[in-house]
Amino acid sequence: MASMKILNIFISFLLLLLFPAAMAELHRLEHPVNTDGSISFLVVGDWGRRGTFNQSQVAQQMGIIGEKLNIDFVVSTGDNFYDDGLTGVDDPAFEESFTNVYTAPSLQKNWYNVLGNHDYRGDALAQLSPILKQKDNRWICMRSYIVNTDVAEFFFVDTTPFQDMYFTTPKDHTYDWRNVMPRKDYLSQVLKDLDSALRESSAKWKIVVGHHTIKSAGHHGSSEELGVHILPILQANNVDFYLNGHDHCLEHISSSDSPLQFLTSGGGSKSWRGDMNWWNPKEMKFYYDGQGFMAMQITQTQVWIQFFDIFGNILHKWSASKNLVSIM
Ligand SMILES: *[C@@H]1O[C@H](CO)[C@@H](O)[C@H](O)[C@H]1NC(C)=O
Repeated sequence: MASMKILNIFISFLLLLLFPAAMAELHRLEHPVNTDGSISFLVVGDWGRRGTFNQSQVAQQMGIIGEKLNIDFVVSTGDNFYDDGLTGVDDPAFEESFTNVYTAPSLQKNWYNVLGNHDYRGDALAQLSPILKQKDNRWICMRSYIVNTDVAEFFFVDTTPFQDMYFTTPKDHTYDWRNVMPRKDYLSQVLKDLDSALRESSAKWKIVVGHHTIKSAGHHGSSEELGVHILPILQANNVDFYLNGHDHCLEHISSSDSPLQFLTSGGGSKSWRGDMNWWNPKEMKFYYDGQGFMAMQITQTQVWIQFFDIFGNILHKWSASKNLVSIM
């Protein structure tokens, strides 16, 4: 077994030397399931404001619900540090907005993060650095990667570089595009990696996580770029859920043409924009223009979703089921 592994590593290394682009593959992590085969986790987005704008209240309530649901980990949909990401690995915002805010015992689990557009305004590489994990061992952040559990597989996607406006419109912000340029190559690699990872996945439930919206009635609305490039890949590969932040609200939109559900959890701190756009009521299951977070519980046959406000009220509940033996 061990020698096979060494041989595989050696072959991968050789291929990497010969075809560097072809081999770029998503980093894969394994997260164990509970003894009953289930997982549960919280989803929060758009949060890091040193506890202000009710970030601390959201965090406190996450701690309570996290304990009740006995969560296994937390998923962060990005915009981890406002306004301009981290200045470097020693930026005290890391402690002030993360370590010292999410202090509840139930939240001392892995946090699987993606980068949002605000994170790209600072030192993006700092958030990806293993040094942060030394400071707080919950912290896991990569650009695009996979977290596999026996019951569901998570595909984290770096969505910020897809958005044209950060490259074209007024330069009132600067973005850290190191390792993202040339952009065209980077984006096509992300799409290729996502598509092949999804195609190879035999997971019962497939969940894709990104910062930007695919479907949203919120302030920013639906990302055209993701609608063109990412959505067809999700539909072709029978993805069950797309989780995102970016719009500072809680939202659930279903599709009329597929089982795919669009879940926005962007209520981690500053919120209350009050500018929801019209959306087809047949698809719009839930919209809350305020602060809070989402919880998901997953078994082989069932998924439960709940959205909570800062008082712990359940704002919206939804569930889906699949047969134990699926035909596909
Ligand atoms: C904090 O939450 C309360 C209750 O939802 C809300 O009324 C208030 O406006 C929020 N404060 C801020 C600064 O967002």
